[in-house]
Amino acid sequence: AMQPLVLGIESSCDETGVGIVRGTQLLTNTVSSSMDEHVRFGGVIPEIASRAHLEAFVPTLQAALDDAGVTLDEIDALAVTAGPGLSGALMVGVSAAKALAVATGKPLYAINHLVAHVGVGMLGGTFADGLPPNLGALLVSGGHTEILRVGNIASDVELLGSTIDDAAGEAYDKTARILGLGYPGGPAIDRLAREGDPKAIRFPRGLSQPKYMGTAEEPGPHRYDWSFSGLKTAVARSVEQYEAAGLEIPVADIAASFQEAVVDIITMKAVLACQEHGISNLLLGGGVAANRRLREVAAERCAAAGITLTVPAPSLCTDNGAMVAALGAQIVLNGGLPSGIAFGPNPSLPV
Ligand code: KG4
Ligand code: ZN
Repeated sequence: AMQPLVLGIESSCDETGVGIVRGTQLLTNTVSSSMDEHVRFGGVIPEIASRAHLEAFVPTLQAALDDAGVTLDEIDALAVTAGPGLSGALMVGVSAAKALAVATGKPLYAINHLVAHVGVGMLGGTFADGLPPNLGALLVSGGHTEILRVGNIASDVELLGSTIDDAAGEAYDKTARILGLGYPGGPAIDRLAREGDPKAIRFPRGLSQPKYMGTAEEPGPHRYDWSFSGLKTAVARSVEQYEAAGLEIPVADIAASFQEAVVDIITMKAVLACQEHGISNLLLGGGVAANRRLREVAAERCAAAGITLTVPAPSLCTDNGAMVAALGAQIVLNGGLPSGIAFGPNPSLPV
């Protein structure tokens, strides 16, 4: 089949992304981030992110077209993240995409951000001939923590489990704040944890009790779900105890022990979900996929379970426009209908 030239737009959080693909071939992945503007607030401020998208969109679009060496005229289809994400931030990308669709007459496809994180697996030569027929995807970032089963990326995606409170990256960021490590906290904890003892403190593994897990035959209510808010509280309590006792806070040990708890429960449940759904290929995505310990333990446990683990390049794991374009191209190839321009951004768009 002819490979469609698709331009994808991403604006669900703090990254303004424009990616262009020809089928599964990546032509450009151009990203502008407003993270620098959020650092002093210790988290992404939606209003600031929206304004930054507005300022960054046209320059990012132009840079992407230049980088790919294509004109808007040559594009076959447009794709844009419709959700989930920050409402005002999504609004900018969706409005820009609609304006482009109207101005150029190109078909526009509304894309689910979570599914796009999986679509990225076809870029960069990994699954260039198409995704494996029953693929698991573990998405871990500041905004999400999900395990998906993907039969067909354009038509059959199932959410197997997700966090019921904080996202994994959010837990890293909140814990880093408690430990005075700055924002974003994931990379800082990743680094510091290497100097600490991961067994120093046994922090809780959320939703791991039998009443939540149940059995394979009779799954409990949260067999494949995660919870990280109790972990963050446990870290805060631990710090308070050292302070109350007038002891020096063993920051590296706490960081290592926190990370061990996160990585242990994430990989345990992800591998379990794969095993119980006949999944033998697992794709790891999201900003937390950069975590060294997560990659290590995921690799070990997947190998032990006979699951092939794939981790795309970091620039494809974090939010970007190329993943939106990649999923858009698959929907086009699958004969999917364009979305028109009547859809709105949906901050809580389900899978
Ligand atoms: O995917 P991403 O860039 O943005 C979204 O949240 O959508 O992910 C950012 C998150 C932040 O919470 C950050 O602390 C975390 O990913 N992160 C990490 C690491 N690098 C980034 N967490 C743990 N270890 C890392 N090395
Ligand atoms: Zn994301």
